[in-house]
Amino acid sequence: MVFITIEGIEGTGKSTQASLLKSYLETSGKLATLAVREPGGTLIGEKLREVLLNTQHEPIDPWAELFMYEACRAQLVKNVIRPALDLKKVVICDRFVDSTVAYQGYGRELDIKAIDILNNLATGGLAPDLTLLIDMTPEAGLKRALNRINRKNSNKKEDRFEKEAISFHQRVRQGFLEIADKNPARVKVIDGSGEIPLIHAQICDIIKKWGRLKTL
Ligand code: TYD
Repeated sequence: MVFITIEGIEGTGKSTQASLLKSYLETSGKLATLAVREPGGTLIGEKLREVLLNTQHEPIDPWAELFMYEACRAQLVKNVIRPALDLKKVVICDRFVDSTVAYQGYGRELDIKAIDILNNLATGGLAPDLTLLIDMTPEAGLKRALNRINRKNSNKKEDRFEKEAISFHQRVRQGFLEIADKNPARVKVIDGSGEIPLIHAQICDIIKKWGRLKTL
């Protein structure tokens, strides 16, 4: 039972890296692996995700926003992540508790002690064994995220967070880097400025050196 999370600001390519990592663990490590994302991953979570990212609604109060992320998380941990870990699967989660500290704590400037308490309640104390933080500047990240939206045939629209000012994303990045500083054994920082295969290679290297997955 190994629980890996992938974190970072917008446009770092986390979801691409999550699926590459899943294939690597399954193919090279012969490990049963489940990949999920936050917010989402359950019926209720996907509905809340739509509310959280929608730009047409009334502005969301930061506390209401926080509670919705925690509601998604409680549902995902209880119904999906815990059962998969109990079946001895490796679980990869695209965003988890560190995103809440970075976005709602550093970005929205809500009380981080309160967030830690809520995170702990929503997860029932489940903490990641390893966190891969893909780091890049908000300028580069937002440019990538917008390119993805503007690509022909893309059905993605700019969401509520992508519309935030650059200063918001700078605070979020700072938040992630401080979390990494405080938790060096758990959080590994990866340079996200390179191409997709280069980032994937860094991730594989970290996993091998980490040594918890014996088949790799
Ligand atoms: P998503 O489209 O999944 O963004 P990305 O592809 O960059 O991961 O949207 C999720 C958004 O929700 C993202 O902007 C970060 C935000 N978020 C929070 O603000 N708090 C949280 O606890 C989580 C999990 C996500």
